Amino acid sequence: MKRLLRTLSGEAVWPPPVWLMRQAGRYLPEYRAVRAGVKDFVALCTTPDLAAEVTLQPIRRYGFDAAILFSDILMLPWALGHGLEFKEGEGPVLPRLRDEAAVAALNPARVADRVAPIMQTVRLVRAGLISEGFAETTLIGFAGAPFTVACYMVEGGGSKDFAHVRGMAYSQPALFQRLMDVLTEASIEYLSAQVAAGAEALMLFDSWAGVLSPSLFRKHCVAPAARIVTALRDRHPEVPIIGFPRLAGVMTRDYAATGVAGIGVDTGSDIAAVAAMLPARMAVQGNLDPLAVVAGGPAMAAEIAPILEAMRGRPFIFNLGHGIVPQTPPEHVTALLEQVRAT
Ligand code: CP3
Repeated sequence: MKRLLRTLSGEAVWPPPVWLMRQAGRYLPEYRAVRAGVKDFVALCTTPDLAAEVTLQPIRRYGFDAAILFSDILMLPWALGHGLEFKEGEGPVLPRLRDEAAVAALNPARVADRVAPIMQTVRLVRAGLISEGFAETTLIGFAGAPFTVACYMVEGGGSKDFAHVRGMAYSQPALFQRLMDVLTEASIEYLSAQVAAGAEALMLFDSWAGVLSPSLFRKHCVAPAARIVTALRDRHPEVPIIGFPRLAGVMTRDYAATGVAGIGVDTGSDIAAVAAMLPARMAVQGNLDPLAVVAGGPAMAAEIAPILEAMRGRPFIFNLGHGIVPQTPPEHVTALLEQVRAT
């Protein structure tokens, strides 16, 4: 079995498998060259040859243990018929979903057609990994967790406090639950299709889980993840799921009940303290500060060492605590890999 999959099955593989969130992206000159040739980010995500190419770029350069499908968590609402635009320097911009009519307008029946190019990307990447000699590299498919996707849909983009989406969860609970149900069911179909196309592991990104109160965290982060994991396990028992309830802190303990095989830990958490709250065979993934990779040198080395030391002897996947940032010097990633693999 591949190293990353062995880790997710509960084995303490050492040195640990390593990949980085947002490993394909603007810090790589070869990514910027491809990106410059397309009209926008959605076009890149829906052009299988190019999306497969940028998925493979960081594998060729660094030999990571995992390739992550190049797409975005907001491609699912886009496939449901919600608008999506990526504005240069501004991030995603979506129509603001605030009422019954907007939820009723989401159309699960159109998803399969609209995500067909993404499934073709998955097939091309799987074939590319084999033909280019990366037979040990695991292909990870993903979706945004329903709450985080709802955050962008309700706010209409990013936000500093996500006050509208949190407000809706309290004051229009039935409407908000309907939105969560649509997203949960659509995520199950979307992830299942990725597995059918060749994804070998899956990840659920709940980037804004940490803004929820404990009761809402259980309702809108833990419960939907548990539904997704249960449905996927029924259909594809061999495919492990990594959950990333970012900024969840002590609530990460509740998240373990979802049935995920691994949990991603964010930059601000003591990874040993989080690991101590979880079952011994559950894999932990994380959590180097992306800004330490921008700094590089001894500052980065001093952040990597204690993570490795704390995680030795348990199933662990080395990663960042959030996505790599565009100003990262590519050679700092080389140094990171050397240090992790020399352990
Ligand atoms: O390399 C990989 O990790 C795979 C591809 C991937 C992207 N986004 C590509 C991307 C994945 C897994 C994501 C997840 C994602 N997207 C999340 C969850 C993880 C996290 O970062 O919290 C979220 C919240 C999004 C939504 C999103 N997409 C935002 C807020 C932005 C704008 C900010 C930015 O970094 O530009 C994006 C755009 C985006 N997604 C880019 C990439 C490479 C940059 C766009 C470009 O290159 O033009």
